[in-house]
Amino acid sequence: MVLVDTHCHLQANQFQEDREEVLARALARLDWLVVVGDDLPTSSLAADLVRDRVYATAGIHPYHASNVDSETLDELRALLARPGVIALGEIGLDYFHEYSPRVDQARAFEQQLALAGELRKPVVIHNRDADADTLAILRNHSERLPGCIMHCFGADAAFAEQCVDTGFYVSFAGNVTFPKAEKLREAARAVPLERLLVETDAPYLAPLPHRGKRCEPWHVELTARALAVEKGVSPDEFGAVTTANARRVYALELAVETPPQASLLGLQACCEQ
Ligand code: NI
Repeated sequence: MVLVDTHCHLQANQFQEDREEVLARALARLDWLVVVGDDLPTSSLAADLVRDRVYATAGIHPYHASNVDSETLDELRALLARPGVIALGEIGLDYFHEYSPRVDQARAFEQQLALAGELRKPVVIHNRDADADTLAILRNHSERLPGCIMHCFGADAAFAEQCVDTGFYVSFAGNVTFPKAEKLREAARAVPLERLLVETDAPYLAPLPHRGKRCEPWHVELTARALAVEKGVSPDEFGAVTTANARRVYALELAVETPPQASLLGLQACCEQ
């Protein structure tokens, strides 16, 4: 089974004791993975972890939106110039926690989307209880964005369809395996296989049967198997298609500077509204 973890936080403290072992287990089973930053320190650590088959993102999570100023954006720009830092994220809106006021969240989100548009980097989006505003802001920028991932999707099927219609990719994490997550499974069924991604968000949200324990990237296999059932395809087909999706949205061909392939067409399609 070919598979990638499109979103994990391997730089997190939860992996301090055994990070290299966790990474070795992941790379033994997965094609590649993406270590996602959520502030400047974690984005810098993510960039430090880049190596063969390990990529990183840099961005400021809405939790920390109030801290974003022009200096932050300059530092993000520098991180995004480092090798293997392939996307801007995770960024977005979180109205559930509202650790930063909504007005600050919107400002930081807009500023980082503008940066992504300028640098032509795909974006990794965190949205919690802010569906309408997230989509409205993204639509303002979607023409300049080469790709957009709705990470750890937590909304309903109708919103998933709106995201797909806008050209986005929709990524599901381990919580889609939980018994009470029928709404999430319905959303996954509503997303065409060609727009689906799978992730762990490790160390959080371990899929069954590891629920409540530390999640690590190879657990993405369990989530992929559950999603394959929902989509009515074999695990092998699910892995192959979602891996191709991940390469396309993260523009991996560009990241490793090999000649662009047909996937560039997919990138353009992603910008269309
Ligand atoms: Ni995350």
